[in-house]
Amino acid sequence: MPSAQKVIKVTGQKEYEDARKSARTWLLDHLAEAPQFEMAVNEAMNNAVVHGMGHGADIVMIELTALQSEVKVTVSDNGIGFEPPASLFEEGHDQAGDMLQCAANEMWERGRGLWMMKAMSDHLHIHGRGNKVTLIKYKNSSFTNDS
Ligand SMILES: Nc1ncnc2c1ncn2[C@@H]1O[C@H](COP(=O)(O)OP(=O)(O)O)[C@@H](O)[C@H]1O
Ligand SMILES: [Mg+2]
Repeated sequence: MPSAQKVIKVTGQKEYEDARKSARTWLLDHLAEAPQFEMAVNEAMNNAVVHGMGHGADIVMIELTALQSEVKVTVSDNGIGFEPPASLFEEGHDQAGDMLQCAANEMWERGRGLWMMKAMSDHLHIHGRGNKVTLIKYKNSSFTNDS
């Protein structure tokens, strides 16, 4: 049972700025780790708007859900979707290294976002042909109630 939920719809580039602001405000209200996680959520939103809407999507939906122990965000668009690189989810693969290598190579202006989303979340799931991305960040679980 979610303790809080928000759905944001973006149907044009103009709404995007407002959507970013409301996602940020919601995350700050519901998650101590919001600043870090927000980077990942921003990137997913940016991808849906730039690549999704740039390739046929006319709507982007952002769903933010606060559960007891985690915050879950899904970002979906109805564009062409994409196939993520297989190494993104490869066990033991150095994703952070890939991201840095990508950032250091001046010829590779693009392609860091997916690695960054993975690094800034506790769980990243890219559904099907990449029209939907789920990001999960666990809430700080250091609080115990056993006294
Ligand atoms: N929502 C999306 N719709 C279509 N293609 C996408 C979407 N998200 C990502 N992609 C594809 O995956 C690639 C990698 O994404 P990313 O790592 O964020 O790099 P960048 O956004 O800088 O190109 C993009 O260049 C694009 O081709
Ligand atoms: Mg990107």
